[in-house]
Amino acid sequence: MKHFWFCLLMFFSISAFALTEEITLSHANVNIHDTASIKRGAKYFATICIACHTLIYMRYDPIAIEAGITYEKMPINITKWPNNVKPPDLSLETEVHSPDWVYTYLHSFYVDKSTATGFNNLIFPDTAMPDMLASFQGTQTLAGDIIQSEGSYGHTLEWYDVVELQQQGSKTPDEFDQMTLDIVNFLNYAAEPFAVKQEQLGWWVLGYLLILLVLVVLMKRAYWKGERA
Ligand code: HEC
Repeated sequence: MKHFWFCLLMFFSISAFALTEEITLSHANVNIHDTASIKRGAKYFATICIACHTLIYMRYDPIAIEAGITYEKMPINITKWPNNVKPPDLSLETEVHSPDWVYTYLHSFYVDKSTATGFNNLIFPDTAMPDMLASFQGTQTLAGDIIQSEGSYGHTLEWYDVVELQQQGSKTPDEFDQMTLDIVNFLNYAAEPFAVKQEQLGWWVLGYLLILLVLVVLMKRAYWKGERA
């Protein structure tokens, strides 16, 4: 009997390990210059995410305001949340985690009847967030046998190796990739709205230093002219 419990424990710890530790993050091709994508992401945020998440530092941002993300719409005064889990502010989410993490998180929800929301997530087990994008992506379930056979042998797995799309939502997988990339692009922008300006400023500084270098070289030549003659 002892062996039975031991094996059962091992079995569950191996599969839990396979689920959380071995999922490699998918690469989100974020681009701070893709303003169209950032704006689409802002719109998605304004229609879906703002019901629960604040973006405190985006209060005076023109792109956010244009998309309809305003302080009044943010859930600032809500104190009672389901299961007492307050959805965190997402202003710095792509810095706290990475853009790749958020991108993979939004892809990797699956149906799990044992949780309060009816969903679970591959890289954030037992997350209190419901799968808000299920109507777009469709519903996914765990493809159990793959996890034990590959996961426990130490192969790295992508989220799509581990879940199966049961029923497609309103978007095709490619369209859903673009939708989540737009959201991540926007959150990445929200974390550092001045990234593009900083980059431009960087080029000006380099140009300035280059001009200065030319002037200094010319000055040196002029200065030492007499010595050489
Ligand atoms: C119904 C409410 C609700 C909506 C709508 C919602 N979320 Fe969440 N979200 C939550 C809750 C609650 C958590 C905290 C989960 C936990 O700590 O277990 C969370 C957590 C997160 C996290 C992880 C935060 C962290 O670092 O712990 C990210 C990223 C996130 N949400 C993104 C989004 C995005 C993007 C949208 C819009 C597409 C969205 N959420 C819509 C409730 C919501």
